[in-house]
Amino acid sequence: MTQTLLRGRTLSFLRWPDNTNDHAAYRYEQDGGLLVDGGTIVAAGPYADVAAKAGDGVKQIDHRPHLLLPGFIDAHVHFPQMGVIASYGAELLDWLNTYTFPEETKFRDAQHGRRIARLFLDEMVRQGTTTVAAYCSVHKQSAEAFFAESHARDMLNIAGKVMMDRNAPEGLRDTPQSGYDDSRALIAEWHGRGRQLYAITPRFAITSTPEQMEMAGALMREFPDLHMQTHLSENHAEIAFTQELYPWSRDYTDVYEHYGLLGPRALFGHCIHLSEREADALSDSGSVAVFCPTSNLFLGSGLFDYQRYRRRAKRLRIATATDVGGGTNYSMLRTMDEGYKVIALNGEKLNPFASFWQITRGNAEALSIADRVGTLDTGTAADITVLDARATPAMRLRMETVGTLAEELFLLQTLGDDRSIAEVYVAGKPAKSMLST
Ligand code: GUN
Ligand code: ZN
Repeated sequence: MTQTLLRGRTLSFLRWPDNTNDHAAYRYEQDGGLLVDGGTIVAAGPYADVAAKAGDGVKQIDHRPHLLLPGFIDAHVHFPQMGVIASYGAELLDWLNTYTFPEETKFRDAQHGRRIARLFLDEMVRQGTTTVAAYCSVHKQSAEAFFAESHARDMLNIAGKVMMDRNAPEGLRDTPQSGYDDSRALIAEWHGRGRQLYAITPRFAITSTPEQMEMAGALMREFPDLHMQTHLSENHAEIAFTQELYPWSRDYTDVYEHYGLLGPRALFGHCIHLSEREADALSDSGSVAVFCPTSNLFLGSGLFDYQRYRRRAKRLRIATATDVGGGTNYSMLRTMDEGYKVIALNGEKLNPFASFWQITRGNAEALSIADRVGTLDTGTAADITVLDARATPAMRLRMETVGTLAEELFLLQTLGDDRSIAEVYVAGKPAKSMLST
């Protein structure tokens, strides 16, 4: 197989960076090399050392002076909501009923699902995102379309058909049995096929009957290695309605706990208004709270207290995500820019190294896939994003006064978007330059 040797300024994280002087938290090579063979990074380090390991006929690609980072990871996104993003003027439950549910009914048409899956993964690549944890619609064929498209591109993606059997319109409801059967069939067909991973996906407690929640729990017991993704404590009206539907529950988290849905591969979108008991329950079970800053701001849901969750004695595992179409941007750079502002409103700051740790290694650890993606370690997949901090005239001007790597990263986060993504590699193959437009 032909080897590829990438040259550029390589940056990969070893652990959470405490501050901008925490240089032991990352590995940076001013003149770095990555040797890729069969979709995997087989050597990484100073360019001269890596080049010496390359075989005859190696294909060289020089990205200097750009930065080479692990591909970004988006831990919570709804691929059927491309047609929902930028819908005006509603809070969560109205937004779901007015815009989102009608849009998602279109996915009963397999052809529509295939078209949107293609456009969605094109957009992810355009933005430098190489892995997502995605919600499909309730329709089995939407998940089939997503996985087929992802598999054809050799992307590592996690996805699941949404389970929802009440409080949603006709055409967007399954039943406890059909939700279980369809999920099981999709697991059999797609989980572990190539790089595809299945997530059991009860949409949220409001749209599942207790019978369906039981079925989701049964799937978790049958397939304990699978991810589970759902929504938790996003909005006050949502919390109150959940309490009405499950009057026996101590709190919202208790509903998921009761049905056996907490655990190290459980991803809970939002987690904005958690009590201390709920945060303890998530922490004790190793569950993950997913911070979706643009969505939380756009829907007026609230401010996720990132630093408090990290600092508490029972620390929460945290991932970050766009949550498109509640989220307003596909870019993880734009997402962390808004995340920085949310954290600032809570009276703290997130250092730029921590931001980039979060959208690479941090999210990979939260999704329990850091052995495969999220770093530039040898033996992991060559899913790589190439960043250009001079992509626009305004960025070029600002770069004139940037002196450190931390400042450059902060500039990329604050002013960057898809224009700053110079190239993306998926399993070692150029992907962004291959997009039609
Ligand atoms: N809660 C249940 N479904 C959704 C969704 O699609 N988006 C958001 N933001 N919250 C939800
Ligand atoms: Zn969501």
